[in-house]
Amino acid sequence: MPALLIRHARILTLRGEAGARRGAALRELGIIPHGEVLVADGKIAAVGEKIEAPADAEVIDAAGRVLMPGFVDCHTHACWAGDRLDEWEKKLNGVPYLDILKAGGGIHSTVRAVREATQKQLAASLRERLGQMLRGGTTTVEVKSGYGLNTESELKMLRAIRRAASDWPGTVIPTALLGHAVEGDPEEYSRMVTKEMLVEVSREFPDVAVDAFCEKEAWSVEACVRLFEKARKHHPLRVHADQFNSLGMIPEAIRLHARSVDHLEATTKADMLALAESATFGVILPCTGFHTDQRFAKAGFFADKGGALALATNCNPGSSPTHSMPFAIALAVRFCGLLPAEAIVAATVNPAALLGFTDRGTIEPGKRADLVLLHHKDERQLAYELGGNPVDLVLCAGQRVTS
Ligand code: NIG
Repeated sequence: MPALLIRHARILTLRGEAGARRGAALRELGIIPHGEVLVADGKIAAVGEKIEAPADAEVIDAAGRVLMPGFVDCHTHACWAGDRLDEWEKKLNGVPYLDILKAGGGIHSTVRAVREATQKQLAASLRERLGQMLRGGTTTVEVKSGYGLNTESELKMLRAIRRAASDWPGTVIPTALLGHAVEGDPEEYSRMVTKEMLVEVSREFPDVAVDAFCEKEAWSVEACVRLFEKARKHHPLRVHADQFNSLGMIPEAIRLHARSVDHLEATTKADMLALAESATFGVILPCTGFHTDQRFAKAGFFADKGGALALATNCNPGSSPTHSMPFAIALAVRFCGLLPAEAIVAATVNPAALLGFTDRGTIEPGKRADLVLLHHKDERQLAYELGGNPVDLVLCAGQRVTS
C-alpha cells in the first residue's frame, strides 16, 4: 500500500515524555502550526514542517485544519441491551439515580435485558455503537462488562466485547466490571464474586482490568477491597468511586495501586489531593453529571495539584447516553474547570497511558497512525462547539475508516 502524506495541517503532536502528562505538561500540545505527516505501514513515518515523501505517496491536503491523535475513550459501558427510557422519564420527574437502583431498576433493568440477549445480539449492538464512536474520532475504547451479575452472563458480555472488537478497525480494551451492583445479600453476593466469578473470568480473560462500583446501593469499601486484594495478583484494578457519596475508597485505591479512580464528583479536597499526588489516574466523566444531577468533578483542582488526569464519555444507557468524546471535552471545560488543551491531553495521550499503551496518543515517528482530521483550524473549537461532529476524517493504523 502506498504511503500517505497529510500536508498543510495544524498538527497537535502531543510529543513529550512517555507516561501520564501532569502539571504544565498537561497543557502542552506540541503544535506544529503548518506541517506534514507521513504515514507508512500503519505507523507515523515522519512529522515536521516539510518532510521527504515517496513520489507515489497519496496526498491529503488538510488546508490548515487540525490533525490530532485519535481519541482514547478509557471508560465506557458500551455493551448493553434494552433501553432505560421509562426510567429516564421518572428521573425527569425528580426520582434520583440511586433511588431507581434501590427499587430494582437502573443497572438491574439493564442486567435483565442483557441476560435475555444472546452473545451475538450484544456484539451486534456494541458494533453499532463502536461505529458511531469511530465517526466521532474515537480510535481506542475501553468497554466494561458489569450488566451480567452472574458468572455466565459476565462471561457472555466479555465474549461479546471480544467478538465486536475483532472486526472493528480501532482497538477495544475489555474490562471485567465484576462489582457493579449487588443481587440478594450484599455480603454473600460479594463473596461469590470474589471466590467464584473472579476465578472463571481470570481463566478466560487473564489480562483484563477488574473494576467495581463503590457506592451506597452498590459495593461497599470492604467488599471492593476484598475483591481487589485477590484480583490484584493477576489483574490491574480500576474503581468507580465518589459518584454520589464519598465512602473512603480513594485511600484504599491508592494503597492497592489501582490504575484509576473514576467519577470523583463527590470527592473531598483531601482525597483529591492524595489522588493527585499518587500514581493512580483520576478519570472524570462530565457527561454523567450533565445527564443526571449537574454535579461535576473538580478536575481543575486535580490538574493544578499535579494529578494524572483522563477524561471519558462513560457511554452507558443509565447515566451517560453519549459516545462523543468531543462532547465530553466541551463539558469538561465548561463544568470541570479544564482548559481546552488540558481536556485534549486528557482525551488522548493520558488515557492511552492509563490503558497501558505506549504506541498511541501522540503524533511521533514510530507511533500507530490513529489520526483525526478535524473540521476546525483552531483546536479550541473542539471544546467550544456543542453538539456537532467536528471530525472530517479518521485513520486507524493508517487506514481511512471514515471518508
Ligand atoms: O459509571 N455508576 C455506575 N456505573 C455507570 C452507570 C451504569 C448504569 O447506570 O447503567 C456509571 O455511571
